[in-house]
Amino acid sequence: MTAVGIDAIEIWTGKLKLDLAETFAPAQGDDPGKYTKGLGLHASSFPDVYEDIVTMGANAAYRLMDRKGLEPDDIGRIDVATESSFDNSKPVSTYIAGCLEQVFDDDFHHANKGERKFACISGTQSVDDAYNWIRAGRNRDRAAIVIATDTALYARDDPGEATQGAGAVAMLIDEEPAIVELSTEQGYGSADETDFLKPNQQFPSVDGKRSVKVYLARMREALDDFATVSGSIHPDDYHMIPFHTPFPGMVRKAAALGYRHIVRGTDVEDVLAEEIGHQPVRETFDSEEAFNDAIREYTDALTETERYRDWYNQAIEPTLEISRHVGNWYTGSVHLARASGLKVAMEQDIDLAGEKLLVASYGSGAQAEVHAETIVPGWEDEIAALDIDDQIQRRYDLSFEEYEEIHDVHNHAMDAHVEEDAEELTPPEAEFAFDGWGRMGERKYRYVE
Ligand code: HMG
Repeated sequence: MTAVGIDAIEIWTGKLKLDLAETFAPAQGDDPGKYTKGLGLHASSFPDVYEDIVTMGANAAYRLMDRKGLEPDDIGRIDVATESSFDNSKPVSTYIAGCLEQVFDDDFHHANKGERKFACISGTQSVDDAYNWIRAGRNRDRAAIVIATDTALYARDDPGEATQGAGAVAMLIDEEPAIVELSTEQGYGSADETDFLKPNQQFPSVDGKRSVKVYLARMREALDDFATVSGSIHPDDYHMIPFHTPFPGMVRKAAALGYRHIVRGTDVEDVLAEEIGHQPVRETFDSEEAFNDAIREYTDALTETERYRDWYNQAIEPTLEISRHVGNWYTGSVHLARASGLKVAMEQDIDLAGEKLLVASYGSGAQAEVHAETIVPGWEDEIAALDIDDQIQRRYDLSFEEYEEIHDVHNHAMDAHVEEDAEELTPPEAEFAFDGWGRMGERKYRYVE
């Protein structure tokens, strides 16, 4: 069977930066450690006044096509995953195709375009759609572009404010991929939940503490479901585990729960037992509360063991590096985690060809999905083409007053003049930029040389 998977990746970060320790924490009267140590975040990316989900997505897609020497005729499908859409009918992918048609000689009229919604997990669902389309033989030798693009903004003073972010990840899904081969091994954990939602509103209604619990519960179900397809899961089977990363502290919790869950009843648990005892068993406790206390105690001890730390430093830590500096990108977040892990491995000269990734996606509302991927030879050449470190470095560092203004500029409930009067903080150069409103309320874009 021909391999199908991710052939190329491009990342575009919002061009502004909010430093959480230096700028946000003092303005909130908080200890910077809450953000840098507790949440594990140093900064968030924000869009400049001329940036939005379309410009960031189009910029990432254009760079991807340009670098791979692709023309519109090579692309049969453009899927956008976002939870920041501004139109209930016209998909963002049509705007992005319109942008790309400004810079290519040909058009995308032949390409199927869509928009996927299921909170943060829709980026992964779009990759799945593209995979299935190619596997079904409907692609006529064409590749798919999947773009996960979001401006993950919260209402001012919401507890989620520190986890904001903005950026896009574009992925080329094709046969004989150059980065990872996807597989049919998948597991799901899905339930009707009200932890994070946007009922016809721009900023989310969030029950933050509950959302953390729901993330963990669905992830556990997804792991169980995955095991029914893959057989037993052993931590050594996967070189890295990129998780959906709303903030690295969330992944710290998910990794501990996941590890504890998959080593239960294995040789690893037996070895660990010599140091910290066996995992608590529900039937041996009188109450749920006592069992939960024992589980918490065991997990704390587990995360202090050398064996766990070694595993965490290899499988998890590298996947968090980019996220620490850009915040939550919703649909793009897990794909950023994969790119981050591969980038760190490339910098450390680790040979990953043939190694497996276990990718753990999540979307509020809520659904977790776990799937296996295999890294293919030559992956490091593709990852070396990423310039995300330079982009992160080049961002304009916002003062708190400028942050407040930028938040207003991107707040749809503000008067239009806030957006019109706003001054850009970085000059647009060789990129798509927002160019005002059309007669039917549509957004317009132009390519700035
Ligand atoms: P909070 O309640 O303000 O923060 O917001 P906190 O008081 O819980 O502190 C956070 C952590 O920092 C805690 O660590 C503190 O102990 C620690 P933990 O106990 O959890 O391990 N801390 C410190 N550490 C060191 N030095 C200090 C210090 N102070 C405190 N001085 C909350 C946290 C997650 C609720 C908030 O950020 C929030 O509401 N975020 C938005 C929702 C979210 O991201 N949920 C994550 C799961 S749901 C998800 O991932 C889906 C999502 O991406 C959306 C989608 O799918 O579309 C959000």
